[in-house]
Amino acid sequence: MNPGKVKLCASLCMWLGIVTWIGNVKLHLWSVFVQQSPERDIAFSLANEQVNISKRHASGLRDGKTFNIRSPVILDNVIEHRVFWSAWLEGLSTRVFGVEHERKWREQVRDARVVVLEAGCGRPTNRLATFADGTRACVRYGIDADQVLGETLSYYLAELLGISNLPPLALSKLNLSSEQWASVRGHIEALEWSPNAIVSLTEFIPNVTGVFIPLHLRKQQGGGLQLSAETMSNMTVTYLVELMQWSDLIIFDYLTANFDRIVSHIFSLQWDARVMERTTNNLLKTINGHLLFIDNEAGLVHGYRVLDLWERYHRLLLSSSCIFRKSTVRRISEMKRSGNSAKLLYELYRAREPLARELGSLSEEHALTLQKRIDVVYKHIKHCTEIM
Ligand SMILES: *[C@@H]1O[C@H](CO)[C@@H](O)[C@H](O)[C@H]1NC(C)=O
Ligand SMILES: *[C@@H]1O[C@H](CO)[C@@H](O)[C@H](O)[C@H]1NC(C)=O
Ligand SMILES: *[C@@H]1O[C@H](CO)[C@@H](O)[C@H](O)[C@H]1NC(C)=O
Ligand SMILES: *[C@@H]1O[C@H](CO)[C@@H](O)[C@H](O)[C@H]1NC(C)=O
Repeated sequence: MNPGKVKLCASLCMWLGIVTWIGNVKLHLWSVFVQQSPERDIAFSLANEQVNISKRHASGLRDGKTFNIRSPVILDNVIEHRVFWSAWLEGLSTRVFGVEHERKWREQVRDARVVVLEAGCGRPTNRLATFADGTRACVRYGIDADQVLGETLSYYLAELLGISNLPPLALSKLNLSSEQWASVRGHIEALEWSPNAIVSLTEFIPNVTGVFIPLHLRKQQGGGLQLSAETMSNMTVTYLVELMQWSDLIIFDYLTANFDRIVSHIFSLQWDARVMERTTNNLLKTINGHLLFIDNEAGLVHGYRVLDLWERYHRLLLSSSCIFRKSTVRRISEMKRSGNSAKLLYELYRAREPLARELGSLSEEHALTLQKRIDVVYKHIKHCTEIM
């Protein structure tokens, strides 16, 4: 048996064992308030109102200095319509990976010759590849094809949502006679990777660090990510820009049902009080303060399969944040209106990825699950607009 398989089973079996006894163990971290709002058509106020920020504030904030002005005017500069990050704050955070950069990257690596494969990129089933031109990529080999599919569809779902925190991704077939893989054939054989398996290549980002769950998401009482003028008195712009990315991450992990990042971290808190002193799985930060949502192979496919075990925790996490990026809310609204987000997802993925047909897509059942989750997120946002 493949050692990877044993490992997957071990962790899954462990979860299965645990979930029966944690049923009535209370989670201390997040306040529980998942309420369904009445069915009513929403008109989120998405007007692109510009906040009038004086030069003094703007320059004081831009260099990451402490946010020391306690006036509610500042809160208004950061939050609009109570639940949206302001246009001003959004303006301070650029796309993590530009659209053009991603396109070029995909084109460049799709047939690029791999000259070195070595350990790296986290998990034991990942490898760090160096191409002939010296650029590097992480190679993810799925123990089963669903993992590569989950990773890939998660990437394109993020793209649909306008979330740019996932490094560029391209698929490749491990054809050992192709020019791309021939030089590292021996290494691949030694790894016992199946010939012709489809692997994902993602851009390797150097000089990244681990990430802790932000203090404002850890609060024992109260509503998690809901800022007031008071809680904001201490914050730097850098921190706010990070929180903004967290608000996207929470929605993204809910939609993909990815338990293997924040949710498993919270879950561990039950028997490990010091878990918050450790960095979160599958989340990194670049030297520019951008969060990278990596290793998304538990998303969508596997995550949906084990939903019964995790949904409660996914909901807790989702309900802990009542602040959103307007652009994300707009995309969620569009996906809800479409009634078939899986179709939008497949269209994008097929247009970008020549191996899409071969790797496959979401099953009909999982496509419905995705749409249901879009609806849940939409209702949650609406609920926040009502209670805040
Ligand atoms: C923005 O601020 C400037 C300078 O304080 C002021 O003259 C201008 O009227 C303000 N604009 C709006 C739309 O409030
Ligand atoms: C593998 O690559 C070789 C050389 O490019 C090509 O002739 C062959 O058709 C490929 N095999 C598959 C299964 O794609
Ligand atoms: C990244 O770290 C390496 C050393 O680990 C250093 O040489 C390099 O300059 C760093 N790159 C950036 C962009 O900071
Ligand atoms: C502000 O910062 C101090 C010291 O870092 C900390 O003890 C305090 O809890 C912070 N206050 C808020 C409202 O975050």
